[in-house]
Amino acid sequence: MNKKGIILGIESSCDDTGVAILKNGTELLSNKLASQIDFHREFGGVVPEIASRKHLEIINLLIDRALKEAGMGFKDIDAVAATKGPGLIGALLVGICVSKTISFTYDIPFIGVNHLMGHIYANFLTYPELKPPFIIMLVSGGHTEIILMKDYADYEVIGSTLDDAAGEAFDKGARVLGLNYPGGPSIQKESQNGDELSIRFPQALKGKNNFNFSFSGLKTSLLYYMKENPDASICNAAASYQYAVVNVIVEKVFNAARKNGINKILFAGGVAANNNLRIKAEEKAKKWGYRVYFPAVSECTDNAAMIAKAGWYKYQNNLIEGLDCNVYPSLSVSEL
Ligand code: KG4
Ligand code: ZN
Repeated sequence: MNKKGIILGIESSCDDTGVAILKNGTELLSNKLASQIDFHREFGGVVPEIASRKHLEIINLLIDRALKEAGMGFKDIDAVAATKGPGLIGALLVGICVSKTISFTYDIPFIGVNHLMGHIYANFLTYPELKPPFIIMLVSGGHTEIILMKDYADYEVIGSTLDDAAGEAFDKGARVLGLNYPGGPSIQKESQNGDELSIRFPQALKGKNNFNFSFSGLKTSLLYYMKENPDASICNAAASYQYAVVNVIVEKVFNAARKNGINKILFAGGVAANNNLRIKAEEKAKKWGYRVYFPAVSECTDNAAMIAKAGWYKYQNNLIEGLDCNVYPSLSVSEL
């Protein structure tokens, strides 16, 4: 089947409200994003109640703006795709309720999208010709997983974090260093003026014969280091901390690729925006003769274009839920 059509994509799983309009699976007619970071920053993380309220306040306006930019109305939309999980329950409900209302009112299909699949599909926006098999390194605020994707619907998780996710490690580390939320961009910025080899933080499970991760000890080690060295240079600590996270990610995913005889590695999720990770992965790929793929930096963190793209895949393959589709706050990557 090769349908043509316009997908309205909606993202509201955490603290970004996103609305995108995708034509025929490739042409992004509009991609709107409203970040709530300023409302959450003073709390050092996302406050679920504030997140739901802010989604509710802005989502209709964002849809209007996206339609206007695309030069169309609701009647031109062929299907509506929204994040059904994982994420914050109240936040997810806003996007899902709005999407189902549009689906019901205009009698068009509703497609529930796994947010994690969305992150992976962000790669196909940048590289439309990309075809499996590949190894995927999913590194977001809540997830760190290595996935072996043999075909679009044939994939398996071959490694994951035993405790904190990579993005969580950045967020918690930034808090210890007195840097702003979200921690990833703050640590990246601070690291620019630091020496990444100045402090040796632990790289847990590196060199072990598995593809699992553990980041909670790293954050504790940073905490103790800063307690014992209150005058330490923040940029050196940030750079060394980033070095520890990035090195272990690069080493694990390349080993996973080698072990599975695959030389294409896709990165996905907010941490894939990290400049140092992109450089180190590129360097290693060059050395090994592998290829690494990263979505555009703006499409690594939460957005609706990736949801529309993953929704497009489901639409093409008739994987369309009815209006009884619920929200699934703990949805795993292995569920479509
Ligand atoms: O994928 P995402 O937008 O949301 C989730 O689905 O979790 O990821 C957010 C995470 C946050 O933990 C944030 O600190 C991290 O991605 N992040 C980064 C960078 N930009 C965002 N981590 C490292 N370097 C960055 N440049
Ligand atoms: Zn995300």
